[in-house]
Amino acid sequence: MRKILIAGNWKMNLIPADGAALVDDLTARSGNWPDVDVVVCPAFTTIPAVALRLGGSPIQLGAQNMSDHDSGAYTGEVSGPMLLTVGCKWVILGHSERRQLFGETDTSVNSKLIKALSLGLKPIVCIGETLEEREAGRTIETVSRQLDGSLAGLTREDANQVTLAYEPIWAIGTGKVATVEQAGEVHSAIRSWCKEKFGAETAGWMRILYGGSVKPDNAAALLAHEDIDGALVGGASLKAEMFDGIIAAAK
Ligand code: PGA
Repeated sequence: MRKILIAGNWKMNLIPADGAALVDDLTARSGNWPDVDVVVCPAFTTIPAVALRLGGSPIQLGAQNMSDHDSGAYTGEVSGPMLLTVGCKWVILGHSERRQLFGETDTSVNSKLIKALSLGLKPIVCIGETLEEREAGRTIETVSRQLDGSLAGLTREDANQVTLAYEPIWAIGTGKVATVEQAGEVHSAIRSWCKEKFGAETAGWMRILYGGSVKPDNAAALLAHEDIDGALVGGASLKAEMFDGIIAAAK
């Protein structure tokens, strides 16, 4: 009942011309895609060029971050209403690089999330443990704490709009993918957390993506797990044949 979602996080890569060329290439391949949601999240300055190419394409558009304010004296920030005007429907919030390199916390992710929901933007909220936390046996505790803080104050109706992404930090950009058992265990724990917080029906609707070194050759096994509802893809989303291969693996 949950439709698979494959989202590409382009991070700080691809100037407008290269982003436009990539989505053209992807759209040309989309005739063979299974019935999944496909989202690309370019850098802010590349979003308009990509948006112009998406007429008639099944690809949806997202951003990698947003402010929790609508406008005003917030130098360097981009707001949710601004994202809507350039065609974004999705926004990634609390990516581990935002948390680790730019000081984002569960509290700031929570205010961005509440803002995104109020604007009708569909959030993809990222959580995940460090290698140190995993080795100390604190993975589930860490992820639960991040969920408590990041999703604080949400109603059931809010939660229905939220996609979660479990991204173990040790697996991001390292080529070290979590095994299906490792990822599956955490995904099932996240689903249980959602059930406790929002009830079984909402927990049954909420999509939980896996992220961290997803590639065409490991995607099928991950996506076959009952609690893994899609993938948030970094490096492999920058090459059409690789991202297409991951989408094809969702069959
Ligand atoms: P990766 O990145 O696929 O390059 O590991 C995933 C992410 O950071 O979302």
